[in-house]
Amino acid sequence: MSETPPTIIALSGSLRRASYNTALLRAAIRKAPPEVRVEHASIEEIPLYNADIEAEQGFPEPVRELKERIASAAGLLLVSPEYNHSVPGVLKNAIDWVSRPGSDIPRVFGGLPVAVIGASQGRMGTVLSQAAWLPVLRALGTRPWFEAKLLVSSAQQVFTEAGELTDARVEKELTDFMTGFAAFVVEQGR
Ligand SMILES: Cc1cc2nc3c(=O)[nH]c(=O)nc-3n(C[C@H](O)[C@H](O)[C@H](O)COP(=O)(O)O)c2cc1C
Repeated sequence: MSETPPTIIALSGSLRRASYNTALLRAAIRKAPPEVRVEHASIEEIPLYNADIEAEQGFPEPVRELKERIASAAGLLLVSPEYNHSVPGVLKNAIDWVSRPGSDIPRVFGGLPVAVIGASQGRMGTVLSQAAWLPVLRALGTRPWFEAKLLVSSAQQVFTEAGELTDARVEKELTDFMTGFAAFVVEQGR
């Protein structure tokens, strides 16, 4: 019987149907080596964080589900757009919900291998967004992987309208990135 490989949960920070970041996430799943399994976890159903909801009604089911998927994952891949030189609110909101209550942070995020990639229609390929995630990843006690960067700029020239990755250079960079991150995830063995 074959064992299930370590799972990397992948989140896209865009809810847009034709999102380049979700297209990049799908390509990352395809390019990941067989030593890991990359699963897309949607954040579409995550409501806006409200401490009153948490206190009075507890955790909404989509939050509970996402939290347990991350808690039992071997790694986390954030595929994040850049909004106004920083992180997109919807993805930060999802991570904020999952970080509650603070006493659960070590169980859910402690020592979790994390990588951040992203696609932008601009020329800088989400570099400022990726940097803006760093204090969040530190606050949560994760173990970010820094050995490679993947900055997809001019995304409208890299993906077709149907979201197919057609740029050979980006394809190679993504394959190398996923190979490196997968090796790190397996080595950390969370
Ligand atoms: C509110 C907002 C702010 C944006 N700010 C930036 C930015 O700071 N840098 C950048 O490169 N692109 C910026 N963009 C453009 C995004 O790169 C572009 O919309 C991209 O396609 C979003 O990702 P998606 O295709 O996955 O939805 C912004 C877009 C929005 C909607």
